[in-house]
Amino acid sequence: MRRGAIVRLVVLGIVLGLGATAVAIFIPWLPDSASDQAEEIDFVFWFVTGICIAVFSVVASIAVYSVLKFRAPPDDDSDGLPIHGHTGIEIAWTVVPFLLVTAMGIVSAVALARNEKVPDGAMVVNVVGRQFAWQFLYPPPNAPDPGENTLECDNQAVRSRCVTSGQLHLPVNVPIHLRMRADDVLHSFWVPEFRQKQDLLPGQVTTLVITPTKVGQWEVLCTELCGLGHSVMRSAAIVSTQAEFDSWKEEAAKQTSGGGDAGEAVFTQNGCASCHTLAEARANGTTGPNLDELPQEARRAGKPLEPFVRESIVEPDAYVEKGFPAGVMPKTYSGLPKEQLDALVQYLVRSSKEGGGR
Ligand code: CUA
Repeated sequence: MRRGAIVRLVVLGIVLGLGATAVAIFIPWLPDSASDQAEEIDFVFWFVTGICIAVFSVVASIAVYSVLKFRAPPDDDSDGLPIHGHTGIEIAWTVVPFLLVTAMGIVSAVALARNEKVPDGAMVVNVVGRQFAWQFLYPPPNAPDPGENTLECDNQAVRSRCVTSGQLHLPVNVPIHLRMRADDVLHSFWVPEFRQKQDLLPGQVTTLVITPTKVGQWEVLCTELCGLGHSVMRSAAIVSTQAEFDSWKEEAAKQTSGGGDAGEAVFTQNGCASCHTLAEARANGTTGPNLDELPQEARRAGKPLEPFVRESIVEPDAYVEKGFPAGVMPKTYSGLPKEQLDALVQYLVRSSKEGGGR
C-alpha cells in the first residue's frame, strides 16, 4: 500500500476516534456515582467503551477512505476485481477481537466478583418488596450480640423488634449487605447512582452489597414490571453521616416500640402511601381508592365502617370500589401481626372521619 494512503487512513482514524471520544466524554451518559461498587462498574463501562472507540475508528476510517477513494463513476456497471483473500489479515481480524472480548470478559468477571464480596463489618439491612412499596428493616439498635447484626427480621418474633422504614437510610462509607425478598411477585431493586441491581423473589433471599461514598438522597426504583402500581413503586435512599444515621435509627426505634401513633407507623412502614391518598398521612397515591373517603365507600359497600376497613385490608377483593380494577391490592396484608392490623384499622377509621370523609 502506498505511504500516502496509510497516512490518510491514520489521520481519518484519529479524527473519527477523537469525535467518538468527545461524544463519550462530554455527554453525561451516566448518573452520579455514589458507591464503591459504582466505581467498579464504571471502570468496566469505560474499559469496554475505550475498546469500542478504537475498533470504531479503525473500521470507520477504512470505510470512509474506501467510499472516497474507490467511488465508481455513475456509468461504471462492471464487476469488482476477483480477490482471493489475505491470510495475514484474516488471522489478525480473528485474533485481535478474540483477545479484546476475552479481556472484557476477565475485567467484567473481576468487577462482579469484587462487587459481590461482602466485606467484614458489613451492616445488614433487610429489604422487602411488595406491591407496590419498599420496606427496609434494620436489626434492633444496641443488639447485645454482634451476631445479631446478621439477624433476619424475617422471623416474626424478631421482626417486631426490628427498626422498620419505608425509606432506605444508610450511613456513608459503611459497607451495606442488603438481604432482599419479595412478599408477592418479582420486583427488582435499583438505585442508579449505586449501579448495583438485583431481583427480589418470593420465598428466596437475594443479596446485594453497597458501600455508599456520598452523602445525599437518591431514588430507589423497582425495575421489574410487577403490576398496576409498578411505576409508583419508588422510595428514597438517604445517605447521611454515621452520627445522623445513628440518631435517625434511635428515633425510628422509638416509633417501632410504640412511641407515636402505632397505626400511622404501620401505614407508613408498609408503603400504603404509594398507592392511596390519606390527608392525615400526607399520602397522595392514586393507584388505589382514596382513604379519606372510606366512610362513603363503606356506605356504598353496605357495611359498617370498621369491619369494612378491616375486610378491605385482609380480603381486598371482597368489595372493589367502582373505577378500580380487582386483584390489584395485594392479599399479603392479611399477614400483618394482629396488633399492627388493629392499630392500622383504628388509624384509618379515625383519620378518614377527621379528614375528607366528613
Ligand atoms: Cu415492584 Cu415493579
